[in-house]
Amino acid sequence: MATAAHTQMHAPEAARAHPWKRSPSAHEALEAHYAANPGTRPHHPHKWDTSRSDIYAENRWEPIFAEMRAAGPVHHIPESPYGPYWSVVSHKAIQHTEALPDIFSSSWEYGGITILDDLPDIPEEERMRLPMFIAMDRPKHTGQRKTVAPAFTPAEMTRLTADIRQRTGETLDALPRGEKFDWVNSVSIPLTTGMLAILFDFPWEDRDLLTHWSDWSGDTELATVRSLDDTRRGMLREMAAYFQILWADRAQRGEAPDLISRMIHSPAMNQMDPQEFMGNLVLLIVGGNDTTRNTMSGIVHALDRFPDQRKLFEEDASLIPNAVQECIRYQTPLKHMRRTATQDTELFGQNIAAGDKVLLWYNSANRDETVFENADQLDITRENARRHIAFGYGIHRCVGARLAELQLRVLMEEMHARRLRANVAGEVERVRANFVEGFRKLEVEITSF
Ligand code: HEM
Repeated sequence: MATAAHTQMHAPEAARAHPWKRSPSAHEALEAHYAANPGTRPHHPHKWDTSRSDIYAENRWEPIFAEMRAAGPVHHIPESPYGPYWSVVSHKAIQHTEALPDIFSSSWEYGGITILDDLPDIPEEERMRLPMFIAMDRPKHTGQRKTVAPAFTPAEMTRLTADIRQRTGETLDALPRGEKFDWVNSVSIPLTTGMLAILFDFPWEDRDLLTHWSDWSGDTELATVRSLDDTRRGMLREMAAYFQILWADRAQRGEAPDLISRMIHSPAMNQMDPQEFMGNLVLLIVGGNDTTRNTMSGIVHALDRFPDQRKLFEEDASLIPNAVQECIRYQTPLKHMRRTATQDTELFGQNIAAGDKVLLWYNSANRDETVFENADQLDITRENARRHIAFGYGIHRCVGARLAELQLRVLMEEMHARRLRANVAGEVERVRANFVEGFRKLEVEITSF
């Protein structure tokens, strides 16, 4: 309530009591600055701009997507640090969009598969492009995908299982007891790297190179090396030289089941130039690395967050295959893929123009309440967990999905066989990105169940 003393205050006194009233002209000064310097006015983030990585780092993304889904399946976001874009947020609308790959292109020629545009700011001659089939359209995509797809058949997965199981068991047996350690460094990274080494029949003693090389590509850009700093150039050269030696070795060895031999002896390989071969190796290394690694951490984090579900897992190993699907749904290691409209078109009542950027938010589709009941909860007995869309849909659906599922299932089975419980016991650091969903650090302590 205002007192007489307050109302009688002189202006300088009032300013001391309410310092913010001292600078009523700040607003005018800023306006004058913007008028004199066009283009400098800062942008307030659009309330539905889900390209902002802070909403993921601070775990605030779920209600934003829920609000969007309630308002409709497709929305225009007029402003973002990446320019305007469309957000496709429902399960049904993402499947629909991915089923029309000629209208919604993945090609780097239109803009590629992430929200970042394809290096608009870097002159053509300075770009170092690594063509990969994830960022190609038909028919080229079809031929190149065919070179690697046979490495991921169910029969191949059976062949790889014993090796993956043995490496997983050794890693778990070496973990410290009675002390805190980082699950990402001690389990998720070595197991994922080991899985890829087995797939490529990569020299075991050099397997950490696979992690090292996968890191240079940065956390968002699968289609191109963004900047040509010397470190990246050097690493790319180093990797190219290494794979050339492997290539010569495998070419001499004749037909063999590892992925590199398969690529060499595939008929589609005749149409692949050395740049494309290297690009597709990078795609396999990067595509298999961050995603599977982060799900291995995500499983531990989610089971710790939902102790009732952990109890179910510990009591009944037969739930593991479904638990793997549910953990992938819950985690959704890649938040989005991008498409670009090749022509004017209509999508669920919205008019999309040729050249528009269209983002498919898998993290939102996997929380779509019209498909998944109590979608924000982990439920390892969920009947339709398999309907998750974390591997995408249509012609680009993840070619490595079976391998990822195998590695995750074996991890859970070997944890179960050892009655090993990983309790989150310290720092949890999430990846700050709008593309990869995962953990940089996850401190745990092991107990038995
Ligand atoms: C494509 C997710 C593991 C290799 C994709 C796509 C997604 C994805 C969302 C794009 C799908 C689309 O555009 O419709 C994941 C997740 C994984 C995982 C969540 C683990 C949990 C792997 C592994 C490999 C791999 C282990 C190989 C070693 C690829 C390749 C493509 C791809 C080569 C391109 C497919 C194409 O364009 O035809 N993945 N991935 N991924 N993934 Fe995976």
